[in-house]
Amino acid sequence: MRGAAVNLKDKIAGKFIVFDGPDGSGKGTQIECAAQALEAEGIPVVCTRDPGGTAIGDQIREILLHKNLLTAMDVRCEVLLFMASRAQLVSEVIAPAVRAGKVVLCDRFISSTCAYQGAAGSDVGRIIELGRFAVGQTWPQLTLVLDLPADQGLDRAGRRGQADGARHDAMESRPIEFHRRVRDIFLSLPGKYPGRVEIVSGDGTPDEVHGRIMEVLRRVDF
Ligand code: TMP
Repeated sequence: MRGAAVNLKDKIAGKFIVFDGPDGSGKGTQIECAAQALEAEGIPVVCTRDPGGTAIGDQIREILLHKNLLTAMDVRCEVLLFMASRAQLVSEVIAPAVRAGKVVLCDRFISSTCAYQGAAGSDVGRIIELGRFAVGQTWPQLTLVLDLPADQGLDRAGRRGQADGARHDAMESRPIEFHRRVRDIFLSLPGKYPGRVEIVSGDGTPDEVHGRIMEVLRRVDF
């Protein structure tokens, strides 16, 4: 057990790991749990989120997720705004942290654009090309996709919205068929999306999902 912990610390330093998945899949909670577990092993961690994570990115996030824009925004405009936000995030936050040997845990990334804007009709190959331009060499070594059926995820996201008084954002308000396509694209990413992609079931308690994620982190070679 002790050997495994030392091994994890050595192999994970300076790595960029993305937590992604459909709305309500539990990414936020799982990033917090993973960050605590890694810090408890003496591993320095930086947590961030996409879109957002910088002052400029937060302004772009506001435009993107404002409910009234839902019908007005062309999908190519969506793709480019998500890319603009992450270009800033990479240069201000992610690349410097990785260079400093920290582990970066990021809530969503280019994999989300593949899934959501892909579900809205954009070509996934073109999205990956644009992503390469936006982020250069700073591509995640590991993308963890937390998987959950679309209706279960939306149900959870809806309950969270009611609990904290937040309104549904533009993406959450889209029809269930859209969210089913989003899930299908997430599940199709291994082999198609650069870097390693691991699908992790988001079903069960937060502790159960956390256990699965730590198992993946200990198992994979980055
Ligand atoms: P969040 O609330 O999980 O941060 O995500 C915000 C919403 O934006 C969520 O519904 C997914 C969506 N989204 C996209 O449509 N494309 C993207 O590239 C990203 C990062 C998020």
